[in-house]
Amino acid sequence: MKNSEFPYISSLIINDCYAYQGLRIDTHAPKGEFRHIILTGKNGSGKTTILNRVEHLLIHLKQGGLPNNQAVYFKELIKSNPKHPQIQDWVRELHKFDAINIQYTYKEELLQANKDFLFSFFKASRKVVVKNVDTVTKQDNFTNQLSQSQNSTEFFIANFKQYLVNKKVYQAFAQLGGRQEEIQENERFFENFTQTLRDIFHDQKLVLEFEQANFEFFLRLGDGRRITFNELSDGFSAFLNILMDLFMRVDLIRKEKYDFAYNPAGFVLIDEPETHLHISMQYEVLPIIARLFPNLQMIVATHSPAVISSLKNAVVYDLSSQKQVADWLVGSSYSELMIRHFGLENEFSPVADRILEEVNNAIKAKDTAKLQQVFIENEQYLTPSLRLEIESQLIELQAPLSA
Ligand SMILES: Nc1ncnc2c1ncn2[C@@H]1O[C@H](COP(=O)(O)OP(=O)(O)OP(=O)(O)O)[C@@H](O)[C@H]1O
Ligand SMILES: [Mg+2]
Repeated sequence: MKNSEFPYISSLIINDCYAYQGLRIDTHAPKGEFRHIILTGKNGSGKTTILNRVEHLLIHLKQGGLPNNQAVYFKELIKSNPKHPQIQDWVRELHKFDAINIQYTYKEELLQANKDFLFSFFKASRKVVVKNVDTVTKQDNFTNQLSQSQNSTEFFIANFKQYLVNKKVYQAFAQLGGRQEEIQENERFFENFTQTLRDIFHDQKLVLEFEQANFEFFLRLGDGRRITFNELSDGFSAFLNILMDLFMRVDLIRKEKYDFAYNPAGFVLIDEPETHLHISMQYEVLPIIARLFPNLQMIVATHSPAVISSLKNAVVYDLSSQKQVADWLVGSSYSELMIRHFGLENEFSPVADRILEEVNNAIKAKDTAKLQQVFIENEQYLTPSLRLEIESQLIELQAPLSA
């Protein structure tokens, strides 16, 4: 299948995500193109349920089945055996196939027939320990995981170091055998991965060091510190876990195709990509993935305004209001986003709100002493914009501060 004919998700029809029924999310992407899908909404609005159901349907297609057939099968089974002791299990199974329908830019059957698309699902609670390595393993162990019937993300992350060690050892064999293309390909992989680490750590001096004696890898930072993958902080670890998995899958698919420039098409589901990340990194996580893996469509659930406004070619859908977030919001300022989308009353913090309220009350009561007291007590919290806001209110009420 050519990437230009890959069936990306064009619509999600949500029949039932527990919290809501009967929603439709359209990307309006033309054939051959796609838009990422970002789901937002209050706690319990159904984001994770939708991702779980998308996962279930895509894995079913990867295994060669058609979800609709399964839905029909379970409906019949339930209808003709209403008193069967297993009925609750069947109802649960039916929900997995029936809760959502997916429409694609090309026929669903193309996915069923070509199972070599990339699929990966990063759950909200993800902290995987990278396993230690004491021997070289066969690549088949990894290739088999690509077509696994359940989410194999944890396997890939846990075995990332193993994968790197194998690569170093095969690299040595390739050098002995003088296989130039293989050598160059391996070098490109490590260069690419190192550059990505440099971008994430904002450290252009970072290098990936291999300690042959005990099969260990270290990130040597510009300031001289050396850390292993398991010593990363939670934030770097959460972000890197996603990249480790995707780097490995893409590398394996490239090898299978014997095309080392190939960018596989497929789907990446991420539940709360903002997990453990500083706000500036929350802006970067999706764009970095999109840049590294340009043919992967992301379906993301998030609470983060930074994630929501980080991608241009994305549809943002708010499950709570059941509306697509207007494109201009994606290009909006943080405070606009907080007010218009997340439902805050203004751009100030709750503490600032209370100060403003006290100021207002003092003005209304014409209580100059109280006004002065509020100012003195809160002097240290008055940001320039909060001070401006208060001053403009004073002017409006014709009670200038100096008076
Ligand atoms: N198997 C189930 N049976 C019945 N209700 C369920 C089931 N799984 C989830 N729910 C309910 O469905 C609703 C949506 O849950 P979901 O986890 O999808 O929300 P969410 O949008 O991901 O929330 P959060 O932002 O807190 O992660 C919740 O009210 C939840 O309790
Ligand atoms: Mg959730």
